[in-house]
Amino acid sequence: MNKLEQYLAEQSSIIESALDHLLPKESEYPREIHQAMRYSCLGGGKRLRAVLAMESCQSVGGAGCDALDYACAIEMIHAYSLIHDDLPCMDDDDFRRGKPTNHKVFGEAIAVLAGDALLTYAMQVLAELDLDATLLILLFREVTTAIGSQGLIGGQVADLLSEGKSIQSDNMEYIHENKTGKLFLASIRGGGLIGGATDAQLAAITRYGQNFGLAFQITDDILDIVGDSKKLGKAVGSDLKLAKSTYPGLYGLEESSRMANDCVMQCHQALTSLPGQSCVLRELAQFVLDRDY
Ligand code: IPE
Ligand code: IPE
Ligand code: MG
Ligand code: MG
Ligand code: MG
Repeated sequence: MNKLEQYLAEQSSIIESALDHLLPKESEYPREIHQAMRYSCLGGGKRLRAVLAMESCQSVGGAGCDALDYACAIEMIHAYSLIHDDLPCMDDDDFRRGKPTNHKVFGEAIAVLAGDALLTYAMQVLAELDLDATLLILLFREVTTAIGSQGLIGGQVADLLSEGKSIQSDNMEYIHENKTGKLFLASIRGGGLIGGATDAQLAAITRYGQNFGLAFQITDDILDIVGDSKKLGKAVGSDLKLAKSTYPGLYGLEESSRMANDCVMQCHQALTSLPGQSCVLRELAQFVLDRDY
């Protein structure tokens, strides 16, 4: 494990404890839904969105822990999106984070409801953040614009509708920017807002976030071809099986890697104007490029 991975593991355990504390207990009635919510939200995942929120807060001079509950709300939304993404009516995947997908364990109906409940609970967590009311409204706007039909859901719809079709580069970009990029952006911008970012700093953070999200999804597509399912904790070859529109499908593996690399260079450049600690953000961008999980 290198230094960054060690740091990520430490941060992940802080995030895991906070999520464990925030989520309804398994014993709470009706137990099935709370078990299903906890099953997909706890005990796995890289926690990149949460770490990014906390690091972004630090990069403008805030304390990372001030963004912890916000980061947890984002992870709940991410977990909801994964549960639904894996459903038979969507990508129909059986494994996620090294264990059977939510619907495989709890059945489709509970899996749909667990996703809905995580999304709703995330809103509750946001509403209960101990922050200034004006800041809270800004955070709500960040999150809700990122995940609706003009964000994550729009991207998922375009992703599904593009199956089996040959699409143009602008449509491809739309899919990645929305299904994956917007939630990363909300993590990073939200962390910056909590840290008190100025407009100029928020613009730099936004540039970092946009490029991070795109690089991340390009490598997700690449790993679906060249990755190891054990390391990834999910099946490989799913995109090909469903004839998804992907970067490697449109541009080839080599050109896709080059494009992801360009995004990471842009990430690094965006960080130069930030006043606080941004070395982890820098290393995280590189991690996205080099990752094998
Ligand atoms: C997977 O995201 C879904 C995509 C948006 C590509 P991650 O690779 O961040 O998933 P976890 O949280 O680490 O499991
Ligand atoms: C998932 O994209 C995006 C969301 C969950 C919003 P993918 O379908 O490519 O993610 P994986 O490969 O199943 O993790
Ligand atoms: Mg999908
Ligand atoms: Mg999928
Ligand atoms: Mg994928």
